[in-house]
Amino acid sequence: MMQKKWKIAAILAVALSLSSTYAMAEEYFWLWVVNPSRQKGVKPVTDKPYQNECGECHFAYQPGLLPAKSWEALLNADALRKHFGANAEVDKDTLRGIHDYAVDNAAEKSFYKRARKIAVATEEGPAPLRITELRYISRKHHDIPEKMIKGNPGVKSLSFCDKCHTQAAQGVYDADTVNIPNYPNWDGWFSK
Ligand code: HEC
Ligand code: HEC
Repeated sequence: MMQKKWKIAAILAVALSLSSTYAMAEEYFWLWVVNPSRQKGVKPVTDKPYQNECGECHFAYQPGLLPAKSWEALLNADALRKHFGANAEVDKDTLRGIHDYAVDNAAEKSFYKRARKIAVATEEGPAPLRITELRYISRKHHDIPEKMIKGNPGVKSLSFCDKCHTQAAQGVYDADTVNIPNYPNWDGWFSK
């Protein structure tokens, strides 16, 4: 059996080699490495303007939920004027900041577990415009009956992650943190 200190050294060596392979966006990389709970979901939103502007009509999606090419397609003046049927325009300077924040923290720039999965799955092909469109995400929700989502006044759309994922704002999407409004026993309703 490998001695503990060698195991740690090996993990750090792998982490170091990964950090030079990918552009690093996690600002506290070493803290992130030694704290497993930070690695599980996606990185929480830290940018105030992004939080304010993009948290107005729905919760502010973490940039790690989509690749940079998606944020490029979504976060420009033209696209925001016709943003999923809504006008989500922001002034030019704010837009530049929001755009850069999202692109710098996009899925492929992150080491968080779910962001990495999304990055790998979207490497090829056109930019997805919706998180709910990603195969990884749609597969996870495939078995939930429509009456619990669209037909549920407490949810209305799968896009409103935080209605069911009680720790969505912290970037945590684990199944054991889910609570579907009006269906307290959702767990028994559909097979997993
Ligand atoms: C004026 C309201 C409004 C604002 C402001 C707004 N959005 Fe949206 N957004 C919407 C609507 C409406 C939808 C579609 C929801 C649905 O289909 O149920 C949406 C959907 C999305 C989706 C796709 C969600 C999915 O289904 O996977 C993303 C990503 C998104 N918005 C990002 C942003 C970002 C980033 C900002 C900040 C620049 C922003 N939004 C600001 C109204 C808004
Ligand atoms: C109607 C409630 C509901 C909404 C809205 C919803 N989810 Fe979920 N989500 C669930 C349930 C229930 C599960 C667990 C499914 C299972 O047990 O297989 C789940 C599972 C997941 C998982 C996998 C968790 C794991 O432990 O592997 C991820 C990731 C996820 N959701 C992300 C999202 C994101 C991102 C959004 C918004 C774009 C979203 N969900 C919207 C109910 C919801």
